[in-house]
Amino acid sequence: MNSKLVAPSLLAADFANLQHDVEMVNQSDADWFHLDIMDGVFVPNISFGMPVIKAIAEHAKKTLDVHLMIVDPDRYIKTFAHLGSNNLTVHYEACNHLHRTLQAIKAEGMKAGVALNPHTSVNLLEDTIQDIDLVCMMSVNPGFGGQSFIENTYQKVSDLKNIIEKRNSKALIEIDGGVNATNAKKLVDAGADVLVAGSFVFKSDNPTEIIKNLKETIA
Ligand code: DX5
Ligand code: ZN
Repeated sequence: MNSKLVAPSLLAADFANLQHDVEMVNQSDADWFHLDIMDGVFVPNISFGMPVIKAIAEHAKKTLDVHLMIVDPDRYIKTFAHLGSNNLTVHYEACNHLHRTLQAIKAEGMKAGVALNPHTSVNLLEDTIQDIDLVCMMSVNPGFGGQSFIENTYQKVSDLKNIIEKRNSKALIEIDGGVNATNAKKLVDAGADVLVAGSFVFKSDNPTEIIKNLKETIA
C-alpha cells in the first residue's frame, strides 16, 4: 500500500513571512508544497505568480505541486518547468485539447495533473486517465482558501478510484479544499492518495503538529 501524502497549500501562509512558512514545511512531516496560481479569469481571484514561485523554489526542499487555476494554461507550461515545478496541474474546464496539454507537461519532465471542479464528472476522464499522473479533485469551488468541504466529494473519489483501477492507471487522487481532521480519514478510505490543506494547517496555532497529526490519521 502506498503511503498517503499531505500537501500544505501556501495560499494560506503568511505572505510577509513566506520563507518562515516554507522552512516550517521543510522541517515538517509534509510531503509536497501545494502552490495555487489564480488568474482572476478562470477563478474570481488572483493569488501569486512567477516571481513568488521562484522565491519559494529557492528554499523549498520538497516536491512543488503547482495547481494552475488559469485559462489557456498551455502558454506557461515551459515557464513553470523552468521555475522548478515537479507536478503541473491544469483544469479540465480550461483545456480544449487536454490530451495534448498532458503530453506537453510530460515532455517538460513534470508529472501531469488534471483538476476537476465540483460540478465536473469524473467520467470525463475515462479516455485520458492512463495519461494522467494526478487528478486534483476540487472539494470546494476553486478560487479561495477557507471554504467548506463539499460532501459529494466522497462519492466522486470512489467513482474515480474505480475508473483508475478499471483502466489500469497509476494516477494519484488528490483532494483540494476544506480538508481537515474530520474528513481526512474518510477521504483516504474512499481512495484518496494526497490531501491538500491550507487553512487547516496555516491558521492553526501549531502547523507542524497539525501536519504530523494529519499524516498519522491517514497512515
Ligand atoms: C482553492 C485552492 C486550494 C486552497 C485550499 O482554490 O485550490 O488549494 O488553498 O485551501 P483550504 O484548505 O483552506 O480549503
Ligand atoms: Zn489548489
